[in-house]
Amino acid sequence: MSSVKHVTLKFRDGQETSVAVQPGESVLDAALAAGAPVLHQCRSGSCSSCMAHLVEGQAGLRAGASSTLLKSEFDAGERLLCVTEPETDCTFSLNYESAVGSTKAVKAHAFVDSIEKIAPNAVRVSLELAEGSWLDFRPGQFIQVRVPGTDVTRSYSPSSTAADLPKIELLVRLLEDGVMSSWLENRAQPDDVIEIEGPFGNFYLREKVPAPHIMVAGGTGLAPIMSMIDTIRRKSGRKPSVLLSFGCATPEQLFCLDDIDLRKHWLPQLDARISVDHNATGDFLRGNPVDALSADDVTHPDTVAYLCGPPRMIEAATLRLTELGLRPENIYAEQFSPSN
Ligand code: FES
Repeated sequence: MSSVKHVTLKFRDGQETSVAVQPGESVLDAALAAGAPVLHQCRSGSCSSCMAHLVEGQAGLRAGASSTLLKSEFDAGERLLCVTEPETDCTFSLNYESAVGSTKAVKAHAFVDSIEKIAPNAVRVSLELAEGSWLDFRPGQFIQVRVPGTDVTRSYSPSSTAADLPKIELLVRLLEDGVMSSWLENRAQPDDVIEIEGPFGNFYLREKVPAPHIMVAGGTGLAPIMSMIDTIRRKSGRKPSVLLSFGCATPEQLFCLDDIDLRKHWLPQLDARISVDHNATGDFLRGNPVDALSADDVTHPDTVAYLCGPPRMIEAATLRLTELGLRPENIYAEQFSPSN
């Protein structure tokens, strides 16, 4: 017979919350109703913001719900709390501090400052928050942008940092017939006003980790990684070493190479490897950014990794880094799939 289940949520900072989940209720709904600071956004199993790890007990997908979790992730104990229903009393660990989930997402307005084509299929969009608007974020988190004149929203992780506010910079991949892409390419003008909302997501830089950092980025997955690198270079005190492995399909599609070079001057601990799948020439490595990783890159047991790019790259990078000795809990990933 179904009955109320008791679920314990353990945050990375040691905070614990217990919530009672009614039959038919998701863990996320029960947690939010109880005021628990659980990160979330879509509430429909697609954004991964509410990811948690099942430590004890049994919990599965709610009837009729779907989730973007890979089977391997589900089998390893990962769950998306918005589409998860407990089958027994259970315990989940959340890989972020309780304070992160306490920052509520807000809506804001921003002006378009400029749109610059940085590759045949990518643009840099510079925004400035409108007077009276404010929206904070951690390096790596994402915001939602509404395409003007539509109800369509798209998610982007700023390549800028909170220290750059009220300026916000986005790297946007252009898609044929994409709603945002066609607005950016055909109609957007400087001083247009757009609606944004955020911050969202559990992919963000854990700032106090002194161990080496490995950052793997595919395409515009470079955006949150640049925000993290800029945050590291601006912080006071000893900085960790950072290995950036960034790749695109062809040399023409690469972008931000000058920005990366500049960061190497500002942050001598930064090593960058640039790869292309096809037509590799000059300093570029042939292959993808995961191929560019080697056993020599993991020399410290507490090494952490941040991965952002398409699902296949995330899967391959996670596998490779685990093989090289990284602990799964030290690998943070944000996968993005283009939407039309
Ligand atoms: S809130 Fe988006 S997957 Fe759960």
